[in-house]
Amino acid sequence: MSEHDQQTEAEPSALRTPIVAVLGHVDHGKTSLLDKIRGSAVHEGEAGAITQHIGSTAVPLETISDIAGDLVDPDDFDLPGLLFIDTPGHHSFSTLRSRGGALADIAILVVDVNDGFQPQTHEAMDILQRTSTPFIVAANKIDTVPGWNPEANRPSKVAIESQSDRVQGDLNENLYEIIGELSSKDISADMYWRVQDFQKNVGVVPVSAETGEGVPDLLTVLMGLSQRYMKAEMEIDAGGPAAGTVLEVKDTQGFGTTIDAVIYDGTIREDDTIVVGAKPNPIVTDVRALLQPKPLAEIRADEEFEQVPEVVAAEGVKIAAPELDDAMAGAPIRVVRDQDKGSVIEAVQAELADIEVSTEEQGVTVKADTLGSLEALVSTLEEDEIPVMDAGVGDIAPRDVRMAETAETPHQQSILGFNVDVLDDARQLADQEGVRLFEHDVIYRLIEEYEEYVEELEQAQQEQIMENITRPARFEILPDHTFRQSDPAVVGVEIRGGLLRRNSRIVSFDDSEPERVGTLKGIQDEGEDVDEARTGERVAVSIDGPTVGRQIKEGDELWVEIPEKHAKILEQELTEDISADEREVLSMYLDKHRNRDPFWGK
Ligand code: GTP
Ligand code: MG
Repeated sequence: MSEHDQQTEAEPSALRTPIVAVLGHVDHGKTSLLDKIRGSAVHEGEAGAITQHIGSTAVPLETISDIAGDLVDPDDFDLPGLLFIDTPGHHSFSTLRSRGGALADIAILVVDVNDGFQPQTHEAMDILQRTSTPFIVAANKIDTVPGWNPEANRPSKVAIESQSDRVQGDLNENLYEIIGELSSKDISADMYWRVQDFQKNVGVVPVSAETGEGVPDLLTVLMGLSQRYMKAEMEIDAGGPAAGTVLEVKDTQGFGTTIDAVIYDGTIREDDTIVVGAKPNPIVTDVRALLQPKPLAEIRADEEFEQVPEVVAAEGVKIAAPELDDAMAGAPIRVVRDQDKGSVIEAVQAELADIEVSTEEQGVTVKADTLGSLEALVSTLEEDEIPVMDAGVGDIAPRDVRMAETAETPHQQSILGFNVDVLDDARQLADQEGVRLFEHDVIYRLIEEYEEYVEELEQAQQEQIMENITRPARFEILPDHTFRQSDPAVVGVEIRGGLLRRNSRIVSFDDSEPERVGTLKGIQDEGEDVDEARTGERVAVSIDGPTVGRQIKEGDELWVEIPEKHAKILEQELTEDISADEREVLSMYLDKHRNRDPFWGK
């Protein structure tokens, strides 16, 4: 029996805390909801029991039971509680990944009942669907429905029933709008108290992060769901080497570059050797310190950490170690203990390769803040058939501009940055080289902006082509409208079809032989010089070359001479872009030539 097996036997598997991601649109109340849960715990005399981790909040089962009252009997559960991870609205939830899937076991999608689904709500939904993460919807801010009578910290079903009919009606209308949005994404949802099977239907829990209605039921539903459907997945080898995900890479005073991570398996200890996902190679380093916020310290403004000897899954932790500069948010982190170091490095590399995005020879350049968001962005671009030439994590730097510049077509000389900054010298270089920068913190907006730009560019190109191509026109010299015989000839004409422009060469057809008549120099409409005339219009034209009565005469039909190359482009590429009567003139013109030469303009 190997050493590793003995250890597994000595430390039987334990149940870890389920990881709950809280996500939703900016300002819809994610942080407030977590604050409320913390606040309720304080209210229940449980302040000490709640531990604020790095990027996460752990709420033990006992506390949940105290908050939920009759709804949760601790004896019915053997999971230790819930670990909540807050995601700021601008921060892509897709960072929360692990081993190719979602780091979160379950999620709360927070939606402001008044505001409904917003861009980041859709984005969060897409990621939840893509990663098959079970979730519930917290329809937040129910206290803001006009006329709401606060029923602080009571279950929302009870609180809603005690409201006036009008308040109930208004609230229900908003709630059904949310349910409708979900159903348009093929998700069948209903008020949580009507849901029979949470694996088939998404429960909507009305809540107020302000007055606390619905918080007991929210916790009850989460706890019940986890216990019922996730228990098996929560079994871990608690004493084994830790596995986790990097949430953020940042400087911490006194420790240099540190990483904030969530550990979802095993234990990490001081002095452990760790492997952290990075480019071009994983980082192998030794843990110098494991940091967690001091208990009861002011939660959000907290910069004071205490050192802990070890952290057991599932928990958040700040890890200080040398050489973490190249670590990437969203990358895997593994402890090396009894296993062979090489195999751990390989495993981390394999996991990174999994996330790595596929690129093409030609395409746009893409930058994102984390591996997870890069993956989400590139896969969305793929769906939209926008090829990607280069993709990376980090701010937009001069090297990215240099890369984008090498793209073949102007519209691909673009950099799409999701949730990243543009370094000053990169912006300067981009200006100078004509590389377009697109920045946004909502993936589909970013892509939308880029697509709008491409459309504009294509339209401008099209206009340019149309401007330079000779357009078909057919016109007739009107009887008794000769104003000048020659040098130039000035006659009154009616446009029979097409678009007549100045400076066009004019031909007439004798049978099918085209005969060049001269150059149309000017157009006058009721005494005013104009650039063009269209079907049905009667104008005076001056033509350099012919003499009325000799090469041309009243009643003659004349044509704009179209160079063979232009005729071909018009027929093969631009038929959709010219008007029906221009098309008709073109086809008549082609017929005349093709009577003589069937391959003309082909
Ligand atoms: P980001 O982290 O920026 O994405 O926002 P968030 O989703 O964390 O929202 P946050 O909790 O910061 O709340 C935004 C605003 O809405 C704050 O002013 C809150 O006080 C307010 N708010 C949140 N929940 C409620 C609620 O249930 N009722 C009322 N009346 N206000 C709320
Ligand atoms: Mg927040």
